[in-house]
Amino acid sequence: MHGYTMEQLKKECMSCFACELAQTRKNLVFGVGNEHAEVMLIGEGPGEQEDIQGVPFVGRAGQLLDDMLRMIDLDRTKVYIANIVKCRPPKNRDPRDEEQDACYMWLEKQIELVDPKIIICLGRISATTLINEDFRITREHGKWYDIDGRRYTAIYHPSALLRDVTKRPEAFADLRSIRSEIKRICKETY
Ligand code: URA
Ligand code: SF4
Repeated sequence: MHGYTMEQLKKECMSCFACELAQTRKNLVFGVGNEHAEVMLIGEGPGEQEDIQGVPFVGRAGQLLDDMLRMIDLDRTKVYIANIVKCRPPKNRDPRDEEQDACYMWLEKQIELVDPKIIICLGRISATTLINEDFRITREHGKWYDIDGRRYTAIYHPSALLRDVTKRPEAFADLRSIRSEIKRICKETY
């Protein structure tokens, strides 16, 4: 068994000052959903609404993410959702490498505690951190990777799908592939 619970981990994380993003956050955004999920989704970092509410994916991109989950019969009670960085980068700039590196200790423990079978990276930043540092989202979205006993894939970030609706059919195909993979290897999700 693990030495601590998600609640304890969250408590420790809430007072993290390991990178510069601590200086400008309103609220730290730790994670949300089913702590025993077989499927974990990992975004980039909090935006304005998430920073205000302390919950991941509650702005416009979050509404689209909820729609995407619904398309494959999932919702926030069936998955766990977190981000690469837990504090909002000012003006929604990309999180810097040193910020992503500093924050990885929290994500790594979250993944250990949830122990998902499938990890879905939302967008390039998440995929370059978790799958492969040279990951090319336009070319490699929807492909599957085996890493440390888990199945990983990346899909377009919902913000990218808001900006460019022509990407949506590909994202939908990726979601269908995710549903198949969940049905194939997960026992409790559907
Ligand atoms: N975009 C992200 O990557 N994460 C959030 O929590 C919200 C928007
Ligand atoms: Fe700590 Fe991560 Fe927030 Fe940086 S972004 S202060 S590492 S929790």
